[in-house]
Amino acid sequence: MAGSAKIAARASEHATGDRHAETIDRRIGRRVTHGILDLSKIEAGKMPLTLETFEITAMIRELTTAIEPVVRKNGNTLTTELDPTLGTMYADAVKTRQILFNLLSNAAKFTTNGHVTLLVRRATVGTAAFIEFVVVDTGVGLHQEQTQKLFRPFVQADASVSRKYGGTGLGLALVWRFCQMMGGEVSVSSRPGHGSAFVVSVPERVVPSADPEISHAA
Ligand SMILES: Nc1ncnc2c1ncn2[C@@H]1O[C@H](COP(=O)(O)OP(=O)(O)OP(=O)(O)O)[C@@H](O)[C@H]1O
Ligand SMILES: [Mg+2]
Repeated sequence: MAGSAKIAARASEHATGDRHAETIDRRIGRRVTHGILDLSKIEAGKMPLTLETFEITAMIRELTTAIEPVVRKNGNTLTTELDPTLGTMYADAVKTRQILFNLLSNAAKFTTNGHVTLLVRRATVGTAAFIEFVVVDTGVGLHQEQTQKLFRPFVQADASVSRKYGGTGLGLALVWRFCQMMGGEVSVSSRPGHGSAFVVSVPERVVPSADPEISHAA
């Protein structure tokens, strides 16, 4: 597996005795472990949904306060556009926040001196009401064939990504799983050099019996 190969490569770097690299590698190692634990817990059905009613705008405000410094670090601005009629939703608040945090961190990471926008709006599909979260950036973007694989664990657009930006390629895999668990979905449209838009839709009222059985990302 690409991930274990990476860990092995990093472990051999340790042998060279580079202390600084060791600290960073330990941190990366911990993040990889947490990501894998999250994924395997979901697979074993041990990360159930915790459904509650929460105010959408309050959740978004809290989240943007946390993420704003990360966005600014690369010289980016963050704009939030919230539908004024947003009320509450009944969903897993922690997983919803994690989904948005992962998407916004990616937008911040893969964009320099640009813009990151978070749009939150209502959407209906037939009679079903959804809350749609759209994360748009003006960053490096992706080729179409890359966008098809991104939601699989340990996938990064190409080998240069982990060298240049770090990360483990687990963020979007978790986004995908959490969306599935809540009966929602995630999609991406992007063009190299023109930025990316990730769209997540989550039912406004998640049905507790939404089938938690998860198959692998296409
Ligand atoms: N907003 C974006 N713009 C350009 N490329 C992106 C964007 N978001 C994700 N990607 C590509 O998708 C890959 C997978 O994203 P993912 O969040 O799963 O992993 P990561 O950010 O590399 O690592 P991690 O999230 O585990 O720290 C990234 O490595 C990058 O190549
Ligand atoms: Mg990421």
